[in-house]
Amino acid sequence: MVSAPLWQGAYHVSSTADREDTRRMGQYTYIGLMTGTSMDAIDAALLDLSDAAPRLVATHGTPLPDALRRQLLAVGAGTGLTELLELDARLGEALANAAIELMNRAGVTSNQVRAIGSHGQTLWHAPDAEHRTTLQAGDPNRIAERTGITVVADFRRRDMAAGGQGAPLAPAFHRAFFGSITEPRAVVNIGGIANVTCLPADTTGVTGFDTGPGNVLLDTWCRQHDRGNYDADGAWAAQARTDPQLLARLRDDQYFRRPPPKSTGREYFNAQWLATAKLEGHSPATVQATLAELTAGTIADSLRSAMPSAKRLLVCGGGARNGDLMRRLARNLPEMVTESTADHGISPDWVEAAGFAWLAHATLDGRPGNIPAVTGAHRPVPLGGIYPGGTS
Ligand SMILES: Nc1ncnc2c1ncn2[C@@H]1O[C@H](COP(=O)(O)OP(=O)(O)OP(=O)(O)O)[C@@H](O)[C@H]1O
Ligand SMILES: [Mg+2]
Repeated sequence: MVSAPLWQGAYHVSSTADREDTRRMGQYTYIGLMTGTSMDAIDAALLDLSDAAPRLVATHGTPLPDALRRQLLAVGAGTGLTELLELDARLGEALANAAIELMNRAGVTSNQVRAIGSHGQTLWHAPDAEHRTTLQAGDPNRIAERTGITVVADFRRRDMAAGGQGAPLAPAFHRAFFGSITEPRAVVNIGGIANVTCLPADTTGVTGFDTGPGNVLLDTWCRQHDRGNYDADGAWAAQARTDPQLLARLRDDQYFRRPPPKSTGREYFNAQWLATAKLEGHSPATVQATLAELTAGTIADSLRSAMPSAKRLLVCGGGARNGDLMRRLARNLPEMVTESTADHGISPDWVEAAGFAWLAHATLDGRPGNIPAVTGAHRPVPLGGIYPGGTS
């Protein structure tokens, strides 16, 4: 998510910082790097995990260069091996740059960071294939080499190896960060895909899954109509009425009927999905409004069936910046208070990146990062591969 960086009590590391401070920081300070399905930006977050409650210290967002984004958007089943490997290398460099820029802004050096949790760019996610697979690009070796910091990456495949969907992984962090809210509540991350986390009052029995499209169809329709990469504030969607028949047809998709555990990606909800949706005869604005209602309605339906007792919905991800989408969500969920995660201590733009910093910490401490009830894995497992940093 690219926006003005949100500084929340950034570390001020001056020459007077004593050794003990530095040692403590080095033990508990983590960087999270995230590039989501929207492929809009690299989000980098510096997290302090020295207390029970994670604290976001500094953030940095950097847009993906247009040429790289176009190439990434074009990746599909037919993409050649050489191109994939080149993309992996280029993304690795871009991720390393984002981490270095974040540290420069925060005045933090590499020996003050214990590890970087790097999600990488998902290029393929096929959790329901006979041999389930998922691929996140962004060579962690390059990040470790450039920063000198230990990198934890490739978080999803261990969960898949344990029989899970490899997604969503955010629920464990949502539980850690929003665990102090005592009423039954849910979190929804509206990125390219939307995923919900249901947090019962006692935080045992956490569930979660991908509800379906978040922004991905809205962004794709915008691009197809030369309206930029996204519908700013949902202004275009707000101009038109939704078409009830079209909406009913779109909601009839098999993904929405499937019970959890389930996860999805732009391999499924994409331009091809729109092309088969018989949108001819509708004005482009009507389609945009109907797609926005599809996102809001399917999130609402999912929540209602997964957690009828939820009183509060905390929204994060770029979708939280879309006023039209937020109004639709509130209309679809009159029984819940719908609010931004900013009201609970973390800006919606940085929750996902912070989550991968937190997962890196869990992995280095040998703790599981997945929740089997969410991903469908047979058991809790530590996630990711560890790429040692080492100083030069
Ligand atoms: N001001 C805005 N108005 C409308 N939509 C916005 C605005 N800002 C961001 N967005 C939407 O949010 C998207 C980016 O959100 P985000 O970065 O959370 O998604 P992501 O990178 O796909 O992450 P995830 O891993 O959760 O899928 C943009 O592509 C756009 O659709
Ligand atoms: Mg993003």
